Amino acid sequence: MATRPLAVVSNREPYLHSKAEDGSVTWSPTTGGVSVALDALMRERGGVWVAHGAGDADKSVVDDGDRVRVPPDAPAYALRRIWLSETEERHYYEGFANEGLWPLSHVAHVKPVFRAEDWRVYRAVNDRFARAVDDELPDRVAPVFIQDYHLTLVPHYLRQRRPDARIALFWHIPFPHPDTLRICPYRREILEGLAATDLLAFQLERDRRNFLAAARAELGATVKHGRVYASNHTTTVCTAPIGVDFDRIQSIARDPGLETEMARLRRELRIETPLVGVGVDRLDYTKGIPERLDALDALFTRCPGLAHQLTFVQIAVPSRSKLDRYAAVEADIDQRVAALNTKHGPGPGGGGPIRYRKSALRIKRLVALYRLADFCIVSSLHDGMNLVAKEFVAARDDLDGVLVLSEMAGSAQELREAVIINPYDVEGFANGLQQALDMPVDERQRRMRAQRRVVAGHDVFRWASDIFGGLDHLDPRSWPPAPGGHIQTA
Ligand code: UDP
Ligand code: G6P
Repeated sequence: MATRPLAVVSNREPYLHSKAEDGSVTWSPTTGGVSVALDALMRERGGVWVAHGAGDADKSVVDDGDRVRVPPDAPAYALRRIWLSETEERHYYEGFANEGLWPLSHVAHVKPVFRAEDWRVYRAVNDRFARAVDDELPDRVAPVFIQDYHLTLVPHYLRQRRPDARIALFWHIPFPHPDTLRICPYRREILEGLAATDLLAFQLERDRRNFLAAARAELGATVKHGRVYASNHTTTVCTAPIGVDFDRIQSIARDPGLETEMARLRRELRIETPLVGVGVDRLDYTKGIPERLDALDALFTRCPGLAHQLTFVQIAVPSRSKLDRYAAVEADIDQRVAALNTKHGPGPGGGGPIRYRKSALRIKRLVALYRLADFCIVSSLHDGMNLVAKEFVAARDDLDGVLVLSEMAGSAQELREAVIINPYDVEGFANGLQQALDMPVDERQRRMRAQRRVVAGHDVFRWASDIFGGLDHLDPRSWPPAPGGHIQTA
């Protein structure tokens, strides 16, 4: 992998600082696939990460240039924070990105909402990010690596300031089919923004195909050999499924302190049963948590006595909670957990078979939780990749544990030895859980060994080197900003 320092750009910052009750400042890593994966890369490679400063004590720790060195306990790279007003956050992040583009891109039957004011602010904030990247670029050829659907116009705005910048963007979520994309009134500007990159990368071939078809249909672009020619510029469009930091997870799993951490978790979660299942998610309607609870209910109903043998731990980290759709799924899950625990409880440890925790675990505890489990459920209705699935596999160097994985998660394309389920099929899902519980040890080991080969072979560093290798091999060229086009000045 090339070792030039990187400029990474994302909406979500990897660490946030908050005020504790006693007035002191604390920090924590953020959850979500993008920050966890990119932090591993930045710790190894160094450079600058430009992101929204969302913590309530973020301002108190930055220097005059709005920078702070992170990770706070072992500084390895600079975090440059961008400040957004509440109104900007509402329109750009909650509105356009998460009520518009997120449901547009995920098949979860939530109607996308596109408002003109959200779009106006989204453009302005994207321009602000582009200006900050322009300030921060260490040299003219340092690669700029932009993340996800919040920042689709940054390549275009940055290109206007730095015609010769080397820009890559990774789209972490599913890319909508052109028929779905048509719902978005601003699709042409978004496609143009993405087409201003040198390299545009997607998780799966399906996403790449959808983008190419949309660029052809909506921009009239020429598409040839995986390249898009539009507005005097060429973009190479590839797939590079994201991975996890396999070695780090494995070394946590091999640490002698793991057993103590597992025992502590057992105590805290009051786990007194011989069997344990886990689910670890952001509290998002795409994750299929209600469907998972229905399948567990069906399983407990068809196997009387199992509720006294099995504890299921669900970690659900609150996310985007100001949005109605998120508040609704949270209330729905609360209600289902309570009903399920009443129906099948109280059982060992008291309170029923489901232990539901709405707070984030840090990686060491997460690995301990993965290791406590006989099975892990990932039941997304639709998901770009799902890193929890890969983390579970990386943590299981004991070769035990069964991954029960939705066929709608991108990771199911690679983890073919998981027990694959359809979250819409309650009975089939319950059969999958039963299969996981009944699976003989030699079959568990064979499947886990095969999955570990896949996850180890395509870790987050290999993912990054595929992307930067791709960027380095493109022909150097300058690109004059095209006149006209659909994107207005912000
Ligand atoms: N995560 C975490 N602590 C938690 C729950 C989740 O650190 O309590 C991390 C998890 O380890 C994973 C990421 O959040 O790396 C979730 O990524 P995933 O791709 O599964 O879903 P996303 O949230 O990106 O949709
Ligand atoms: C998904 C998205 C990321 C996002 C993460 C957490 O992984 O692809 O871009 O950062 O969810 O969501 P949040 O809204 O908290 O940033």
